[in-house]
Amino acid sequence: MNHYSEHLLAWYDRHHRDLPWRTGPLEKMRGVRPDPYHVWLSEIMLQQTTVQAVKAYYEKFLARWPRVEDLAAAPSDDVMAAWAGLGYYARARNLKKCAETVAAEHGGIFPDTLDGLKALPGIGDYTAAAVAAIAFDRPEAVVDGNVERVVTRLFTIETPLPAAKPEIRAFTAKLTPDERPGDFAQAMMDLGATLCTPKRPACALCPLNGNCRALAEDDPERFPLKLPKKQRPVRRGAAFVAETPDGRVLLRTRPGTGLLGGMAEPPTTGWTARLDGETESSAAPFAANWTDAGEITHIFTHFELRLTVWHAITPERAIEGGRWETALGEKALPSVMKKAIAKAIPDAFKRSSHDR
Ligand code: ADE
Repeated sequence: MNHYSEHLLAWYDRHHRDLPWRTGPLEKMRGVRPDPYHVWLSEIMLQQTTVQAVKAYYEKFLARWPRVEDLAAAPSDDVMAAWAGLGYYARARNLKKCAETVAAEHGGIFPDTLDGLKALPGIGDYTAAAVAAIAFDRPEAVVDGNVERVVTRLFTIETPLPAAKPEIRAFTAKLTPDERPGDFAQAMMDLGATLCTPKRPACALCPLNGNCRALAEDDPERFPLKLPKKQRPVRRGAAFVAETPDGRVLLRTRPGTGLLGGMAEPPTTGWTARLDGETESSAAPFAANWTDAGEITHIFTHFELRLTVWHAITPERAIEGGRWETALGEKALPSVMKKAIAKAIPDAFKRSSHDR
């Protein structure tokens, strides 16, 4: 134990966030370890997604697939549909592959070493370290965005991100104690999320305020330094929201590979491939009285998508690969597609299957 981890763990014991994937104090006292399947599932979901958004998905997945073997045996379409709304759909495809590998090649038991974990689909440096520390008590350095902020402030690291990553990892490894490394990792994340925030950090309440160089000598908010962001390119396209007079909406399934692969959508132009996609109603899948419902914007990692949304009320007609759906609130749709549909039909997600 070092000075930092001692203070931080004492703070964590009092102030940790109660999160569904964490073991409670009574379980801890009885020496109950967190279930590696639970830890892995939560860590995959938490990449690029907030704790608040993940909670409900995590509970839904575990209720439906209580063991890794259940997830391995589930139809891929069900898993993708349950994931809808969390974003970054490659994670869901890898989640399924990883469950299959653990079930088929490891007898349903997660490997308990960093290297064993890293060999699994969809598990990179961060997730391997997090699962090794939290589920298996291995003193691995777990570095996410919160930890980067805490560490660059503690040690006034002047190298900008992402070049600072190796330095941050080395400092984190030095701080990580042999005892309770999993709690230490989660304590660093909680500290970053609740006190050591990007703006206006609550340094007066921080358990490490006696050891923070940025607080003593500098301005904590200045860290971490970052290279100026490249602007996201803008891609454009159109979405066609067709609706029957009794409120059924035309959906189809996107191709299995590529962005949002296998997910449902109203027909859209091929915005994935082009930077100057068609935005006019002439690109519609069939002729109808298309009216301009406005534009929606959605931020993907590598580009910003602007979709012009067209709306038509039309008699039902047969569209290849299409289906006319009711009760959209109960359907699995990516957030960008929900935005597009809601632009055309503001109450589309409030209708249930009982309304007709
Ligand atoms: N973010 C990623 N993993 C987390 C965890 N285990 N606790 C809190 N925040 C997290």
